Amino acid sequence: MGARLRLLKYWGMSCSLHLIAIVTVFVLASSLLGQTTGTGDTSVTAVRGESWLLHSRRSFGETNMGKTWNLGPPPPDPGMELPPWQLNLSPGFPAPIVTLHGSDLYRMTCQGCHKESGQGAPPEINSVIDPVRATSVAAITARMKAAGREMSRSDIASMAKESKAMLLQRLHVGEQLAAIPGAEKNPIAVKESSYRIGEHIVKSTCYVCPSATGPNPSPEQILKGAIPPLSSLTTRVSLSGFVRKVTNGVPIIMGTPPTYYRGHMPVYVYFSQDEAAAAYLYLIRYPPRP
Ligand code: HEC
Repeated sequence: MGARLRLLKYWGMSCSLHLIAIVTVFVLASSLLGQTTGTGDTSVTAVRGESWLLHSRRSFGETNMGKTWNLGPPPPDPGMELPPWQLNLSPGFPAPIVTLHGSDLYRMTCQGCHKESGQGAPPEINSVIDPVRATSVAAITARMKAAGREMSRSDIASMAKESKAMLLQRLHVGEQLAAIPGAEKNPIAVKESSYRIGEHIVKSTCYVCPSATGPNPSPEQILKGAIPPLSSLTTRVSLSGFVRKVTNGVPIIMGTPPTYYRGHMPVYVYFSQDEAAAAYLYLIRYPPRP
């Protein structure tokens, strides 16, 4: 319950107008906490350690990983306030169980690097398309036919099996992107808790840039390129501020005198508000570890 207390403390400090929000988040957090025991979803774990950027010794500007090429709105004119924005979660949020298809899992855990098309950004990020096609008897047969080459069905089948074994080391879903004949008729669905959704998004998409823990940078340090760690996000911003930043973008105050800037954080228009909110609740319930 430490998370709940911390949450309330933070929200309580920010301003009394947030009272309704406090109650909402309290209810959300409680139902999610209940949900963990209800579904026995004990396999969700906290995000740990250094970000992909730190791990691969790349700077934010040097990588295509995690980039959506969408930036948030421009800063307001000097002296002006930010335009209003409305948090708009689904009535049933957080749904105790959400059904996800392969395309959703791809979107949450792979798209931040491999892009919407699956082509990635070679040479840094390889395309996932050909490795996936190579696992399909139908796709290989079609390719052989197009090239005018004969190959027995059993040879094709064993080729596909081998490719699949190789690919499965890294990949579990995503056939739709590769346009495998017939794949759309047989989509695999999994049922996940909202925590798991938050875990997917945080561990695959957010974690590219911010590390799990570390010092909370000052506005001056952010101006120089520092990225706040995942552990500080839930105290830096409210649930609403988090969802807005992720799905829509929000200018950020940096430097001295405090000035609004557009910021560098990519906007993830392909995450719903519910999904971004699930990431926030996940970070509270499973605090990031060093
Ligand atoms: C943090 C960025 C990042 C995320 C997230 C990511 N990948 Fe990758 N992926 C890469 C990079 C970089 C490469 C190329 C280097 C390598 O193979 O390690 C790659 C390579 C691959 C390859 C190998 C392609 C080849 O040519 O052999 C496959 C398959 C793949 N990724 C699938 C996935 C799937 C599926 C997901 C989501 C579950 C995913 N990746 C998530 C960055 C990422």
